[in-house]
Amino acid sequence: MYLQAGSDVEYLSMLITRKVEFSASHVCRNPRLSDEENQRVFGLAANPNGHGHNYLLEVSLEGDPDPVTGMVFDLKEMKDVLNREVVEPFDHRFLNHEVPPFDRVIPTLENIARDIWRRIEPHFARPRSRLHSVRLYETPDLYVDYFGEQPCSA
Ligand code: NI
Repeated sequence: MYLQAGSDVEYLSMLITRKVEFSASHVCRNPRLSDEENQRVFGLAANPNGHGHNYLLEVSLEGDPDPVTGMVFDLKEMKDVLNREVVEPFDHRFLNHEVPPFDRVIPTLENIARDIWRRIEPHFARPRSRLHSVRLYETPDLYVDYFGEQPCSA
C-alpha cells in the first residue's frame, strides 16, 4: 500500500497493533424470523435473555514512521481513541438494549467489528497513517478480520 503525495511515492511500510478488551452481552436473533428459525440459525445465541463474551479487539494501523517522532501514530492517542470510542461505550453493556445500532442491527461478531471500524476509522486517517484492520475475538477460537469496505474483484 502506498500513498501518492505530490510527485513522491510514500510507502506505508509498517503495521502497528494495539489490543483492548471489553465485556458485553448480546442476543443474536432476527425479528423477521420465527422463533424456530432463529433457533435454527443462531442456536443458543438466540436466547432472548442474552449471554456475555469477553471480547478482545486488535486494531492495526498502517503507516510510515514520522521522521521526527519515529512513530507511525502517537501510541497514547491510539489508546485514548480505543478507550473513548470502543471500551467506554461497549464495556459491561447489553449491546441490543444499550448500544445503537444494535437495537436494530444483529450484534454478530461481524457486525460489531464493522461498527467498531466506523467508530474509529476517522480518528486514524492522517497523512502518514490509516486504519488497516480490525480483528475482533469473541472467544480464543473465533475471530473476524475487517478491512473496511473493499471493492469486490469478482
Ligand atoms: Ni454470543
